[in-house]
Amino acid sequence: MENTIPDENPSLSRRQLLNFLTGAAVAVTTGSALYPLAQFFVPPRKVAAGGGILAKDQLGNPIPASQILAEPPGTRALIAGLAGEPTYLTLKTEGSLSPMGIVDHCTHLGCTFPWNPMDQQFQCPCHGSLYDPDGKVVRGPAPLPLKLVHVAVKDDAIWIYPWNETDPRTGKSPWWV
Ligand code: FES
Repeated sequence: MENTIPDENPSLSRRQLLNFLTGAAVAVTTGSALYPLAQFFVPPRKVAAGGGILAKDQLGNPIPASQILAEPPGTRALIAGLAGEPTYLTLKTEGSLSPMGIVDHCTHLGCTFPWNPMDQQFQCPCHGSLYDPDGKVVRGPAPLPLKLVHVAVKDDAIWIYPWNETDPRTGKSPWWV
């Protein structure tokens, strides 16, 4: 029996098919490698002009404004704000949110803290710092007032924006900018 390998070049159509398949494989591989890189430079959706983001719950789902606005005045609602920072929103009057949100990071060593409605204070459990309802220090060792963010309700969404202007509690530039 004679085994012979044809020594002529593959036919033109076969060569074109191989070139096409090779090119397609390279394109798919390159595309899948570059896609995450390209995504890095695309701004995330749900970011408004001015760096605003939607207030989210602990699972990362946007919180409908109607859900929080249904709470009684004086309620403090904890949401995930800018960069996921836990942030307190305040029901000022029935159906309206304070435009000032307070970030739940103690300015001493960064502990999170609860709102105590009986004492009307934020009370840090780590070293005993106390803050008034606007986030001003009542008792240290916390050295600075709590960080602020802007809060705005549009339709049924709650938007959180960076606070870069004067801190109304001190009359000075915010320490966090
Ligand atoms: S971290 Fe809050 S008092 Fe120390």
